[in-house]
Amino acid sequence: MDKLKMHSPNLAEGNIDKLAALFPNCITEARDAAGELKKAIDFDLLRQELSASVVEGPQERYQLNWPGKREALLAANAPIAKTLRPCREESVDFDTTQNLFIEGDNLEALKLLQETYLNKVKMIYIDPPYNTGSDFIYEDDFAESLEMYFEHSNQRNEFGDRLVANTESNGRFHSDWLSMMCSRLRLARNLMRDDGVIFISIDDNESHNLKKICDEIFGEKNFIAQLAVQLNPRGRHLDRFIAKTHESILIFGKNCENVNTVFGVEKEGRMVDDYNREDQNGKYRLLGLRNRNQAFNPDTRPNLYYPLYVSHKSGKISVRREDDYLDEVWPDTPDGVKTCWTWGRDKVTKEGHLLCGEKTGGEWRIYRKDYLVSEDGTVAKTLIKSLWTDKEISNDYGRKSVKDLLGAAVMDFPKSPELLKKLIRAGTSIDDIVLDFFSGSATTAQAVIDLNAENGSRLKFIMVQLPEQCDEKSEAFKYGYKTISEISKERIRRAGQKIKKENSSKTDVEKLDLGFRVLKIDTSNMKEVYYTPDTVSQDLLSDQVDNIREDRTAEDLLFQVLLDWGVDLALPISQQVIAGKTVFFVDGNALVACFDTGIDEDFVKQLAGHKPLRVVFRDAGFANDSVKINVEQVFKLLSPATEIKTL
Ligand SMILES: C[S@@+](CC[C@H](N)C(=O)[O-])C[C@H]1O[C@@H](n2cnc3c(N)ncnc32)[C@H](O)[C@@H]1O
Repeated sequence: MDKLKMHSPNLAEGNIDKLAALFPNCITEARDAAGELKKAIDFDLLRQELSASVVEGPQERYQLNWPGKREALLAANAPIAKTLRPCREESVDFDTTQNLFIEGDNLEALKLLQETYLNKVKMIYIDPPYNTGSDFIYEDDFAESLEMYFEHSNQRNEFGDRLVANTESNGRFHSDWLSMMCSRLRLARNLMRDDGVIFISIDDNESHNLKKICDEIFGEKNFIAQLAVQLNPRGRHLDRFIAKTHESILIFGKNCENVNTVFGVEKEGRMVDDYNREDQNGKYRLLGLRNRNQAFNPDTRPNLYYPLYVSHKSGKISVRREDDYLDEVWPDTPDGVKTCWTWGRDKVTKEGHLLCGEKTGGEWRIYRKDYLVSEDGTVAKTLIKSLWTDKEISNDYGRKSVKDLLGAAVMDFPKSPELLKKLIRAGTSIDDIVLDFFSGSATTAQAVIDLNAENGSRLKFIMVQLPEQCDEKSEAFKYGYKTISEISKERIRRAGQKIKKENSSKTDVEKLDLGFRVLKIDTSNMKEVYYTPDTVSQDLLSDQVDNIREDRTAEDLLFQVLLDWGVDLALPISQQVIAGKTVFFVDGNALVACFDTGIDEDFVKQLAGHKPLRVVFRDAGFANDSVKINVEQVFKLLSPATEIKTL
């Protein structure tokens, strides 16, 4: 029996728990005055979380440390002056699709998505470089002041010089990889919903280190499992001593107390054979109503120890002795040990039609009918297992899938779409968002649209992929692909066309979202002066009437506004010409934007007539100062709920 606490709550512990929810990586173990290990705050790390420069603080503590860890923290927290530029030509169904393909470095992409997708993503899958000694990893910028970072990030947008080979001879071989992963995982966690889950493919090279940093970032208690997935059944014969046939998939939840973090999988194969009875409601199996665990008995659960009455004629059950319900049955073992039922009296009264009695050896046993398909059409589920050996999840199937779609094996070691489908089924339900920020050939995107076509779900994807150059000697280059992101985009296009072709006779194929919006990470749309006005002389400043770069389109500006305002980047967009000016309507009137010049009061009144929730103009777009001053008044009068901003 639980004992009374007999003391007031420990507020310091409560505070530690609150901080742990916000900054799980700042929780460590330290000895108290009595020498006992206790949960404690790592104040140096907490200071680092709240600081824009590297905080020093060497101390002995239980944790995984490496040179560069603090810089990685800084890298994750530092802001960037970048934007996402839409690319219609490379997109499919740009205006209506809810899927996103982001081209660029994933650290930057994750930063740009922080506001818009905070707590929105149900499932993340990543397949990062495993740090095998021959991988390239992206060199992050972090040892800079904020101002320098802005300037710097506005000047460099080429990728070639930032991808560096991480060979074992590099003195920071593990450290560089850990820093790269750590900053990205921290940002990724922010995007996860409370019931969110992350699946990370990894092999023996770094799985131990990855588990440790995930323990820090997600909290040890949110570790779910490390799956063993057999991707190469023949084994790698170049290995020493043991031919490896499997890799791992590390699974962490955002908050494992949430029961929807991972779903069971539908029963199939031999498990379905157990459902060997059938009535008008379908196939079912019988499960004993008596709780076989003797820890549950009349002493511990008195309300679950009571008699049930069976009808001798029909085998039906009642909680009362009445009519022909005359045979009394208690939840006792055949040798007389008292246990209890798994259902209380109320549940039996309400759902007694699911119960039945059967006589074995002259004694009644009470069972409940467990249907394979429940009334709402859901198929019985079972927990996913930690060892996966299905042949369809192997790398051979991954390679074949790319070859079938793109005509050649243009990607090294792509995962099998079947592996991804199995993970997505476990990690999502009907219309969730799936994010993969090491997307490679976009196997995850293909798995999402395949699943939607198969089972009518409306899952959405966000892929992030660096335009990493394909080696000139590679198969990909031979087939005309200059970068990996070109491979990814073409794969999604073709996977969509294949689904359309294969389902052409189905009426609702048109409803499937087989498109994607391509957004490319680029320097901000704003000129340098916008971020560093102090460095520009007053004369120059007065010249800069417009603070927007000349090469940017109205649609570029629209996406920066969406990012800034935290508006979903996948909302439908339409354009209208009103009084000769181009106006964007995002999700109807959720956001209305006009970046044209010469905006006058009449036009402002027309826009206000649409009663937008938010409206945005270009700062230098007003015909004169008096229009600019009057905009707020016009909206106050005609559409007082509208939020107004200028760019
Ligand atoms: C192992 S592959 C993923 C393969 C993928 N699962 C598939 O089935 O095709 C890892 C990918 O991450 C990409 N990548 C590496 N560093 C990146 C970064 N900083 N930002 C975005 N993508 C990156 C690489 O270009 C590579 O294509």
